[in-house]
Amino acid sequence: MGNAQRADPLLSVGIITADWLHMGDELARLEAAGPDFVHIDVMDGCFCPQLTVGPPVIGALRTTLKKDVHLMIDEPLEKVHAYVEAGADLLTFHVEATQNPRRVLQALGTSVKRGIALNPGTPVTAVEPLLDDVELVLVLAVYPGLRGQRFAPETERRLGAVNELIDRSGRAVLLGVDGGVTRENVHSVAAMGVDLIVAGSAVFDGGDAAANLRQMRAGVASGAR
Ligand code: DX5
Ligand code: ZN
Repeated sequence: MGNAQRADPLLSVGIITADWLHMGDELARLEAAGPDFVHIDVMDGCFCPQLTVGPPVIGALRTTLKKDVHLMIDEPLEKVHAYVEAGADLLTFHVEATQNPRRVLQALGTSVKRGIALNPGTPVTAVEPLLDDVELVLVLAVYPGLRGQRFAPETERRLGAVNELIDRSGRAVLLGVDGGVTRENVHSVAAMGVDLIVAGSAVFDGGDAAANLRQMRAGVASGAR
């Protein structure tokens, strides 16, 4: 779908750097500012070096926002259902995390909106066989679990290549990007033909999260035209 027909990209706000000891307040502030999703990064310390939260914590998050759960975990097949039960509205796992990603997608079926994610070093062709079974392809612009990385410059080319694969598939698969999106570069990222942008530290690191989110939304709107 050419950029011209594309609506403004959806905004999914990552809470990994929010104040976990006051998450109820953080979510209430976020709800007032109106992102499209709350993005919850699940890291197992094996697939990537960080360890974050699992289904019990995700299930305890009381919010009206849709939960966009990003699994950076090894061998997700036996684990994904717990995240659906924890209230995931969109559940994304990594193509690198399993020998048989199609089996995980088919196990999920229509129980949740399904995403497949790609690390920066993975050829985008890895998702081509899966496009009939996903609703989202999420291209990472940083390596998971390592803080303070910049948006990898090759990401724009990778996003274009995935868009070509999606166009060829004939399916209405959304294209998302995650990691290294800032208040300064969101304008140009929004013009890269994406349908969904994940941003965490740009919203929660420094200053007023709601004001930061409004600034991100304005950047998305101006870039997407
Ligand atoms: C990779 C995670 C991202 C990250 C957000 O580590 O999948 O969602 O937390 O990154 P920033 O803070 O750069 O938006
Ligand atoms: Zn993420």
